[in-house]
Amino acid sequence: PCLSNLLSQDCETPQLNPVVEPLSWMLGTWLSDPPGDGTFPSMKPFQYLEEVCISHVGQPMLNFSFNAFHPDTRKPMHRECGFIRIKPDTNKVAFISAQNTGLVEVEEGEVNGQELSIASHSVARISFAKKPHVEQITRKFRLNSDGKLEQTVSMATTTQPMTQHLHITYKKV
Ligand code: HEM
Repeated sequence: PCLSNLLSQDCETPQLNPVVEPLSWMLGTWLSDPPGDGTFPSMKPFQYLEEVCISHVGQPMLNFSFNAFHPDTRKPMHRECGFIRIKPDTNKVAFISAQNTGLVEVEEGEVNGQELSIASHSVARISFAKKPHVEQITRKFRLNSDGKLEQTVSMATTTQPMTQHLHITYKKV
């Protein structure tokens, strides 16, 4: 439901590439439930809504988009999209993301069962990105026993050590 099939050879959903089977628990369209919690020592705590789409087109990788919205006004907020790759026949995972704030990052880590833990290997940004700059990012994704997907994001900036910035659970829609 996430990607247009107008250019694909047939209109059927492609078969999942077996290489990405260890990440298949992430696939789907997910909506925050309840709203996510944003925190950071330098900021007032906030809440947000988020729609996540994790899909595939039969290639040995997943496609993702995370689109956050203000809980009251529903105005778009943070947005990011990218790809999740797995080194074939291992549990080594790479997460490649471009963010609307002008940040581009590569995270690497491991999938173990229905949990993915990753940390940034490189972060690049546009020359006029807002300060303070992010120095490192870590994330954990987990599929809980109640079928909900959970994401926790921590970051270190030039002014704060590694601290949690986001925690959110999503239900599949
Ligand atoms: C602030 C990074 C995702 C909402 C910030 C700050 C940084 C940052 C560096 C400034 C912190 C400071 O002033 O000390 C990131 C990164 C993200 C991410 C790297 C993803 C990996 C999100 C998401 C939301 C969000 C999904 C949801 C709406 C905010 C808000 C602020 C903020 C509301 C405070 C106001 C502002 O500076 O714009 N974030 N963020 N962030 N972030 Fe995030």
